[in-house]
Amino acid sequence: QFQGQVTLDGPSGTGKSSVARAVAVRLGAAYLDTGAMYRAATVAVLTAGVDPEDADAVARTVGSASIEVGTTAGEERVLVDGVDVAARIRGGEVTRAVSPVSAVPAVRRQLVDQQRALVAGAAAVVVEGRDIGTVVLPDATCKIYLTAAPEVRAQRRAGQLGLTDEAEVAALAADLRRRDEYDSSRADSPLRPAGDAVVVDSTDLDRDAVVDRVVSLALTAC
Ligand code: C5P
Repeated sequence: QFQGQVTLDGPSGTGKSSVARAVAVRLGAAYLDTGAMYRAATVAVLTAGVDPEDADAVARTVGSASIEVGTTAGEERVLVDGVDVAARIRGGEVTRAVSPVSAVPAVRRQLVDQQRALVAGAAAVVVEGRDIGTVVLPDATCKIYLTAAPEVRAQRRAGQLGLTDEAEVAALAADLRRRDEYDSSRADSPLRPAGDAVVVDSTDLDRDAVVDRVVSLALTAC
């Protein structure tokens, strides 16, 4: 029986969410998707008509919003001020605006506090994001940094969305690149592997192979 914290960080389009969910099931662990929290904060910003690049207004808006993320009976639940936004957080409008919102230090402090409180009671948990091993849970039992070649990540994301049109796939690749650059170069909690993270490159591995590898790393405490 696994006990402890598994952190799963890495850029967009590595299959991180799908791997993290499957690993949590295999380990009998709780699961937290921190990206969903930054996406929910972005919904609050857009709903208030605030410019995502206006850091002060973003901090104020998110500071007064209630953000709840969890899983109920296998269904993802994401609420902003009590309103279900689970579908909306995956849309293009939110995906385009989420990086500047999540670069605001006050937003990060607020959501990191909430993330630590959410996992505090769990004996076993898998937490997915960009800064979990470096900032949120620096003492985690097992830290994984999941990567894949950029072309492969764009192809996988296109597959998920059912896109086949070449121009659409190219636009998606550009969006992934832009988001990774933004997330990696921000001053507060940039995307990078923790010093003690195990890097898993999924370029040539299918999802099940990645899940097997992460589960076996977690069971041997990495
Ligand atoms: O993982 P997902 O693609 O849903 O994350 C959306 C965005 O939220 C990322 O591009 C990043 O800007 C932000 N994020 C973050 N820190 C986390 C999780 C997500 O800054 N721990």
